[in-house]
Amino acid sequence: MHLDQKVSLKTLHTFGMEVEARYFVEAKTHSEVLTLLNYRHMIHMPILFLGGGSNVLFTRDFPGIVIRIHSKGITIREQDDHHVVVTAEAGENWDEFVQHCVNNHWIGLENLSLIPGTVGAAPIQNIGAYGVEVKDFIESVQVVEIDSGKQKRYSNIECEFGYRDSIFKRALKGKVIILNVTFKLIKVGEPGGERVAEKSLLNLDYGDIRGELQRLGVTDPDIGDVRTAVCNIRRKKLPDPAEVGNAGSFFKNPVIGKALLDSLQSRFPEIPSYAQLSDDDFKIPAAWLIEQCGWKGYRNGDAGVHPNQPLVLVNYGAATGSQIVELAKKITDSVQQRFGIRLETEVNILGSL
Ligand code: FAD
Ligand code: EPU
Repeated sequence: MHLDQKVSLKTLHTFGMEVEARYFVEAKTHSEVLTLLNYRHMIHMPILFLGGGSNVLFTRDFPGIVIRIHSKGITIREQDDHHVVVTAEAGENWDEFVQHCVNNHWIGLENLSLIPGTVGAAPIQNIGAYGVEVKDFIESVQVVEIDSGKQKRYSNIECEFGYRDSIFKRALKGKVIILNVTFKLIKVGEPGGERVAEKSLLNLDYGDIRGELQRLGVTDPDIGDVRTAVCNIRRKKLPDPAEVGNAGSFFKNPVIGKALLDSLQSRFPEIPSYAQLSDDDFKIPAAWLIEQCGWKGYRNGDAGVHPNQPLVLVNYGAATGSQIVELAKKITDSVQQRFGIRLETEVNILGSL
C-alpha cells in the first residue's frame, strides 16, 4: 500500500470538482482494509472511505486521509437448481458485477445495470432503478466496525432497508466499513436452456423497458436484452459523468401522505404521483416539482440543473461544491414555498461550508 500526499480527487469522484485529499491510499484487498484500520488510533485526522465517488459532493479539500476501497473478488457460496448465493467484495465495480451476473443468467440485478459506483456502496442507499431495489436480492452485508475492528454480518432484515435508505445511512453512518455483500439470485438452469422460465422472471413493467425492447426488435427477451434496454434508456436520460460532472439524482423523490396529496391535487390537478405499498403514501417525482419551479436547464456559471433531467445537478467544468450546494438550497426553498414539500438530498455532502 502506498500513502500519497496532496492527491487530486478530481477524477476519483463523478462531480469532478478540483479538490485535494491531504493523504490518499488505496486498499486493494479485504485484508488491506483491515490493516489500515489497525492504524486508526494513530491517525489523528478525519478518514473518508471512498468507493467510486458517484454519490458524494466535496465542498472543500479533504483535510485528512481518503481510503479508496478497491478490494476485488466474486465468490459463489452455494448454488442449486434455483438459486445462487454469491459474495462480491466491496471494491468491485457495480456494473461489472451486474454484467457478470447477466453473463451467467443469474436473474435479479439486471434492471440495476449501469449504475455507477462499487458493490460496497450499493446497500448504503439501497440503490434502485427500473422497479428494482438492491435490497430485493441482498442476503447479507459484512462489515468491520471502525472503533473496535470487530467484524459483523448484517442480515437483510437487520440492514433496515427503505427507499434510498438503510441502517448504514443512519445508526451505522461513519461507524462501519462494508467489506463485502452477499446476494441471492435466481437461476433457471443452463444459460439459453430454460428461456420460458427466465422470461417469466424478468421485470419488464417499469418505465419504458418494453418500449425500448420493441425499438430493439426483441420479441422474446432474455436477461441480456433487459440489460441492453435499461442501459439504452439510461444513456438517453442521464448525463454521463465522463462528459459532465454529476452524481445522479441530487434529491430523493419525496413521499407524502394522502391529505397533502389531496390538497396539492386540488391546486395542481396534473401533479404526478405513485401509490406506495402503504395505502397512505405517495411518491411525487422531484423532477416534476423542480421543473414546475422553473429550474430545468438553469445554469449559473458552471453550476446547473440538467436540461433533460432536473433532478440531476451538474458541474459544467469549474463549479465548486459550495456553488452546487447553494443552487440546491435555492431549489429546495422554491419547491418548499410553492408545494409545501421539503426535498431531501440524496448525495452525501462532504465538508462544511
Ligand atoms: P461513493 O460515492 O464512493 O460513496 C458514497 C458514500 O458511501 C460515502 O459516504 C462513502 O464514504 C460511503 N462508502 C462508500 N463505500 C463504502 C464502504 N465500502 N463502506 C462504508 N462506507 C462506504 N443511485 C441509485 O440508487 N440509482 C440510480 O439509478 C443511480 N444512478 C446514477 C447515475 C449517475 C450518472 C450517477 C453519477 C450516480 C447514480 N446513482 C444512482 C448514485 C450512485 O451511483 C450510487 O449511490 C452508488 O451506490 C454510489 O457508489 P460509490 O461507490 O460511487 O459510492
Ligand atoms: N419528470 C419531469 N420532468 C423531467 C423529467 C422527469 O416532470 O424533465 C417527471 C415525470 O413525471 C417522470 C418522473 O419525473 O415520469 C420520473 O422520472 P424518471 O423516470 O426519469 O425517474 P426519476 O424519479 O427522476 C428515479 C431515481 C433514479 C432512477 C430512475 C429510474 C430517485 C431519486 N431517482 O429517477 O435514480 O435511475 O428513477 O428508476 O429515486 C439516483 O438515485 O441517482 C438515480 C438516478
